[in-house]
Amino acid sequence: MSDLSAEVLVFACSHRSGGNSDAAAEMVAAGVRQAGGAARVVVVRDYSVLACLACRSCAKDELSRCVLGAKDQAEELFALLLSAPSVVFVSPIYFYALPSLCKTWIDRSQRFWEARRKGEAWLLGLPERQGFACLVAGQPLGQRLFDGARLTLKYFLVNFGITLAEPVCLRGKDARGDFAADPEAAGQALALGREAWAAAQGVLK
Ligand SMILES: Cc1cc2nc3c(=O)[nH]c(=O)nc-3n(C[C@H](O)[C@H](O)[C@H](O)COP(=O)(O)O)c2cc1C
Repeated sequence: MSDLSAEVLVFACSHRSGGNSDAAAEMVAAGVRQAGGAARVVVVRDYSVLACLACRSCAKDELSRCVLGAKDQAEELFALLLSAPSVVFVSPIYFYALPSLCKTWIDRSQRFWEARRKGEAWLLGLPERQGFACLVAGQPLGQRLFDGARLTLKYFLVNFGITLAEPVCLRGKDARGDFAADPEAAGQALALGREAWAAAQGVLK
């Protein structure tokens, strides 16, 4: 699989620097390294991404290109996603959903949905990969707290040939240091990193 990098990519999706999901993302990356792998944390808020115009140009274009493709950094993020042997999304819950910056990027993947629908070989030929998620919520309760984020990630990633495993869901992590103060949560994030590296090895072999 020469087109794949050897790094597990950990996408950190919070708008808050140094918060719970940033800390969890670093812990996931530590888990990958603990298992002998390589990991890189990609901070989504550091990329400038314009909102999808819903112009449907990608549906008409032969190669499903986006009219905004050269105007921002969405494609840089997609290139990372396409080249990773496995990925982990670490995200807070905002109003029962993914944060808007991350969702803005996900909406821009409509061109990949179109390419899959049209059966474009460059996309369908990608290796099957596994994706993982660690979702962090401030509230301790809420039966369906993680459903929105989980479903969005699942149907986003499937367009890239990535199957999302059942996410690690952390509740009651609201103030900045709440994740760092919970050794059990840290253990779950480390284990997720180890699992992501095991999945990556299956693709890289
Ligand atoms: C705009 C916004 C919306 C939020 N909505 C929810 C929510 O619906 N449910 C919840 O449990 N926590 C909610 N929270 C709390 C965050 O999930 C929580 O503070 C989390 O630790 C933030 O992660 P971070 O430290 O990585 O930024 C919200 C926070 C913000 C800023």
